Amino acid sequence: MENKIDNKSTGTFLDNIHDEDYERPYLSKMVTSSDMIFDNYREKESLNGYWNFQIDQYDTCIRAKWYEEEYKLESGMYQPVDYDFDSWDTIKVPSCWNTQNERFYYYEGPAVYTRTFRYENRGEERVFIKFGAVNYEAKVFLNKKYIGMHRGGSTPFFIEVTGLLEESNRIIVVADNTRKKEAVPARNTDWFNYGGVYRDVEILRLPETFIKDFRISLVPNSNFKKIRVQLEVDGRQLNEKAIIEIPKLNITKEINCVNGKADFEIKADPELWSPEKPRLYDVKVNYLFDSIQDKVGFREIKADKTGIYLNGQRIFLKGVCTHEESVPNGKAITEEEIMENFNLAKQMNCNFMRLAHYPHTEKAARIADKVGILLWEEVPVYWAIDFKNHDTYKNAENQLTELILRDTNRASVIIWSVGNENADTDDRLEFMSSLAKKAKEIDPSRLVSAACLVDTDNLMIKDRLTDYLDIIGLNEYYGWYAPDFNDLIKLLDNSNPQKPVIVTEFGADALKGARGTFDDLGTEDCQLYVYRKQTETLDKIPYIQGTTPWILYDFRCPRRTNPLQLEYNRKGLLSEDKSYIKPAYYVMKEFYATKKY
Ligand code: GCU
Repeated sequence: MENKIDNKSTGTFLDNIHDEDYERPYLSKMVTSSDMIFDNYREKESLNGYWNFQIDQYDTCIRAKWYEEEYKLESGMYQPVDYDFDSWDTIKVPSCWNTQNERFYYYEGPAVYTRTFRYENRGEERVFIKFGAVNYEAKVFLNKKYIGMHRGGSTPFFIEVTGLLEESNRIIVVADNTRKKEAVPARNTDWFNYGGVYRDVEILRLPETFIKDFRISLVPNSNFKKIRVQLEVDGRQLNEKAIIEIPKLNITKEINCVNGKADFEIKADPELWSPEKPRLYDVKVNYLFDSIQDKVGFREIKADKTGIYLNGQRIFLKGVCTHEESVPNGKAITEEEIMENFNLAKQMNCNFMRLAHYPHTEKAARIADKVGILLWEEVPVYWAIDFKNHDTYKNAENQLTELILRDTNRASVIIWSVGNENADTDDRLEFMSSLAKKAKEIDPSRLVSAACLVDTDNLMIKDRLTDYLDIIGLNEYYGWYAPDFNDLIKLLDNSNPQKPVIVTEFGADALKGARGTFDDLGTEDCQLYVYRKQTETLDKIPYIQGTTPWILYDFRCPRRTNPLQLEYNRKGLLSEDKSYIKPAYYVMKEFYATKKY
């Protein structure tokens, strides 16, 4: 390769090989929660399907600007290029590349997705492209132009493309699932690092002025007789009338937006949403030429030192944890697979699920609204996050905000979790208490929690973060990582928390069908013993107001390599394909059948 001695720019795509700061210019177009648009039930056009795909280990698409499709030098002579989009293999969108081709199973790094599509302008004035999620980072290009990037592998993002679409278009997405110290999550987790454009990609056509945000919920402490509506519109006409209709409540109300916003209360007497009776109401809002709708349940969730209250009734959260994963689809799980998980939980007498450790697809909360399951949703502030790094904090805060804005109207979601198993340090306290305050500020109608660690030095439930939480989540593995159950009893006796505690993880590995004595690690007998001891111990503790054992079914984890694991975490109550129920499942079923609170 000819290499100019003075390193003077060759004026070609070869310049990039000497530039290790090539990413900097792209950071100026970071897409965040402020770009989100209310899109529930909006008509959208799908860009799902088979896209051309190429793993790109050296990030050459970005370095050499493949997206510019510049084949000629300034002299007009052709230059050699290292790509040919249309000749590449194809991959299904949405999907995780890991499950689409065994060559990509373990791949971590940048990968290039591209497709062409036709677009017919029908006089709409604003156009956006929505990505349900890309793990972990996405840079997006349209018709040779860079249009934005997003960080965070589990939340949606919207990019405005008004005026950029032609009759025939090419979109390119560089998805990069490289694990990084400063990312959220960071480099070390206990789940499989799937990559790709794994949720829907859609086009949204909107009028010049449109409804950007719409939130509706029961006003806490209003004796279930008041509904709060928050509205935000985007465009030039920001001071017009909005009309909200809830036909089954005989509500039609006009309200004036002022500078694009409205925040008002309406007297109402809705049938309250609950897991037993998941009543949803059709809600419609019109503003000028825009109209949106949603299906909303009205319920109140509260917690104080005496317990957790749903619609004023004391409740024990009978839950179970689950990752977002299936054997065939990885993180790109289908609605059928979500329904299967919820049904398995309900058959275990659950009323609650902890969606660990990151925002699951928005379809999950929508289904939970319909079938009646309460949800804990969480951002992946997991283990050793770069708590000193302000950019890392802004990333975590953005993912939390995107999650809350996305699911704000979902009655099933009762708890926002700001993280999992983080050592109690000053930097972590500052970082996660700020997240907890942010969640409360954005959404005062829900509870805030986190899955905290046992204070093993003092054998207590003691973590400074709990001062900022409504509910204390506690991960404890007595009978497994901490073998001595007597310590669990001491821990519980030593503690006197002034707010409800949910044991957000307990459990033990068991390979399906593996049998042995009660202390044979990795056998069903051992898991069964742990579950029996855990439930009988926790049942006696008044401040324990919920349990979500770890975990509904086995899941992929490359760190787990012994013969019983074979790159799976085997703490599931079912096998990884959910075809086999382990005996400990029935311990939870029985425990929840009679547990009052
Ligand atoms: C931790 C962690 C989980 C992990 C589990 C385990 O508590 O929160 O993500 O999978 O323990 O070790 O199995």
